[in-house]
Amino acid sequence: SKKIVLTEDASLPAAKQIKIRDGAANRNTRVKVFGWVNRLRVQGKDMMFIVLRDGSGFLQCVLTNRLCHTYDALTLTLESTVALYGELKEVPEGKTAPGGHELIVDYWEVVSKAPGGDDAVTNILNSESDPSIKYHQRHLVIRGDTASSVLKVRSRVMRAFRDHFDSAGYYEVTPPCMVQTQVEGGSTLFSFNYYGENAYLTQSSQLYLETCLPSMGAVYTISESYRAEKSNTRRHLSEYSHCEAEIPFISFTDLLDGIENMVKDVVNRVWAEPETRAMIEELNPGFKPITDEPFLRMRYEDAIKTLSFGDDIPESPERFMTDTIGKPILLTHFPGPIKAFYMPPTEEDPRVTESVDLLMPGVGEIVGGSMRIWDYDTLLAAYKREGLDPAPYYWYLDQRKYGTCPHGGFGLGVERFLAWLTNRFTVRGLLPAPACF
Ligand code: 4AD
Repeated sequence: SKKIVLTEDASLPAAKQIKIRDGAANRNTRVKVFGWVNRLRVQGKDMMFIVLRDGSGFLQCVLTNRLCHTYDALTLTLESTVALYGELKEVPEGKTAPGGHELIVDYWEVVSKAPGGDDAVTNILNSESDPSIKYHQRHLVIRGDTASSVLKVRSRVMRAFRDHFDSAGYYEVTPPCMVQTQVEGGSTLFSFNYYGENAYLTQSSQLYLETCLPSMGAVYTISESYRAEKSNTRRHLSEYSHCEAEIPFISFTDLLDGIENMVKDVVNRVWAEPETRAMIEELNPGFKPITDEPFLRMRYEDAIKTLSFGDDIPESPERFMTDTIGKPILLTHFPGPIKAFYMPPTEEDPRVTESVDLLMPGVGEIVGGSMRIWDYDTLLAAYKREGLDPAPYYWYLDQRKYGTCPHGGFGLGVERFLAWLTNRFTVRGLLPAPACF
């Protein structure tokens, strides 16, 4: 048969290159859209529908007659990249399409054809694939509707955290990730050789944030933290995004209020964006922002009535408790020995510390925070008690020497927050690519 070659009709107006999200403003004009073939449906021999995806949205495109007779059309595969030219038309009464319009294609080109046959993306991955395959193929999974919505919500949530802190006058800091100090105990440190010296991947940026207080006042960061916790649970990653804040001259109650306000404000901010809200509603049907009621505040001692005092609350009872109560809980006043070296005892009861975890239904702990020991000698004694060499912490101790002040802060696990917000079963569902986990 004769090879069919398409040519663009030179008598048509020049096509304007647009992103799919800008479709509504470009109806009834000739446009050019680049993207990936998300869905493909052939109807008879003279009609073909492509749902095109460009990251900004989805667009239904209609190809007719000669346009579907070319070799490229007959061998087109999912995930191929194409350029489609044509006019955007409102869909006829009674028909639906993303954005309410479709592209009536008059010319098109393949940019790059994805493999078919054994290597076709649908053979590598489909809805029945085993979870282990899905993690291995995470870079392809994220092209799917659900995973890409989750990543887009993640982007908006990161922005909302920044907006929350920026509007409250905090400065953002990007502390180092390669460090020689520990924050949350030696057992979860990843260590490496730094030109002959022992160094670690940071467990938390907290100590650096504390040293920034005299320079910038209240500060925050969204940085990676690393934990060598080889527990294959729904909520542990070796590398995670950690949103941390540190505030000078506050009380423990101020700290609790700050955590609660942040979570509520961030949820409100993303909920107020129609596109983000629609994605959350799709991912987590029935989700309601938890902004009207105050969070439950409960002392550790009351929460563990069923366990023995001094036990750290393990994951499953913690989840049971939050799921039974079904509401966010600020769990406070943990016993000193199960908590980090920097947490101060309370004045009323030296057995417990000014510490807090925020627990969310379905996920459990999403925030950990505390006031910090701010007296030089008390901190030095804490190093001694923990068997830590204070030498590498000279800069942290100096903060207690040159104008110390009461201060506190907290860290929120971004993936855990998102697992709660978007109703994902595990935190791995929040990652953009295969990683070590
Ligand atoms: O409770 P954590 O260990 O507290 C700190 O690191 C403090 N230095 C933070 C601070 O006060 N600036 O960790 C804080 C949060 C946890 O509540 C959890 O959400 C998250 O970090 N997190 C993890 N997320 C995923 N995978 C892991 N392995 C995590 N470990 C902690």
